[in-house]
Amino acid sequence: MTDSAGDLVRMIADASAAIRARLASRRPETAIVLGSGMGFLASQVTDAVRIPYRDIPGFPLPTVEGHGGELVAGRFAGREIIAQSGRFHMYEGHSAEVSTLAVRAFGELGVRTLILTNAAGGIRRNFTAGTLMLLSDHLNLTARNPLVGAVLPGEERFPDMSDPYDAALRGIAREVARERGIMLAEGVYAALLGPTYETPSEVRMLERLGADAVGMSTAIEVIAARARGMRCLAISTITNLAAGISPVPLSHAEVMETANRVKGELGSLIEGIVERLPQPGAATA
Ligand code: HPA
Repeated sequence: MTDSAGDLVRMIADASAAIRARLASRRPETAIVLGSGMGFLASQVTDAVRIPYRDIPGFPLPTVEGHGGELVAGRFAGREIIAQSGRFHMYEGHSAEVSTLAVRAFGELGVRTLILTNAAGGIRRNFTAGTLMLLSDHLNLTARNPLVGAVLPGEERFPDMSDPYDAALRGIAREVARERGIMLAEGVYAALLGPTYETPSEVRMLERLGADAVGMSTAIEVIAARARGMRCLAISTITNLAAGISPVPLSHAEVMETANRVKGELGSLIEGIVERLPQPGAATA
């Protein structure tokens, strides 16, 4: 193992030890990564312990409006969860390793299910701002991969990516959406490095590549989680139509405004999904 891999192993161990110390007797089974403007979900966690990033070694402080800077662990929808309010994007200058540090620490803490939310631009022509989209698959176009380098303990060299978004969890999500009357599309998410939004030509290219939505997160977190065998589910809020499809220039203000408008539906969907997750130790769903 190279020195840098040793450093990364130590970083993950130090971060997870600091989190574990604050969890006391809590044993989260599920982690929820909250995207732009989705931090509200953390306020619905009861018996909560809040762990600011400044108390976790190696965790950077968020630099983007709409992204919090704490982990919130406790009970949500009758389950033990840990929510990451504020993720680390590569466009902030973080390496793929730092951007996936929280996910890897969750893995060390025994989390087996990862639910991710994100804000994304809509490419599919019938999407509108406010559409919720379950990820069926992704295109990692960030040109980065958090697994480059020595294989970390508990991870695989060549993880299979033929089912990155767990089929059973997606089934639960569809069922909850149907029962609660929530419109839930399903499609392919293209992850780009950012921080610029795309040009219209780039969006046309992504459309031809089979992408239904585009954003700047999620794919590398899912790669790190899959390398540890964690089951993943991800939901995009289509906060705007992508460049060239939208008649108006894109703005972070629009992204935040739409995320805020649909947060009730998204929160209800996630609550229903978590409630139905298979109990730990139970046969797979
Ligand atoms: N492109 C990339 N990322 C995004 C977008 C977009 O249009 N909207 C929200 N995040």
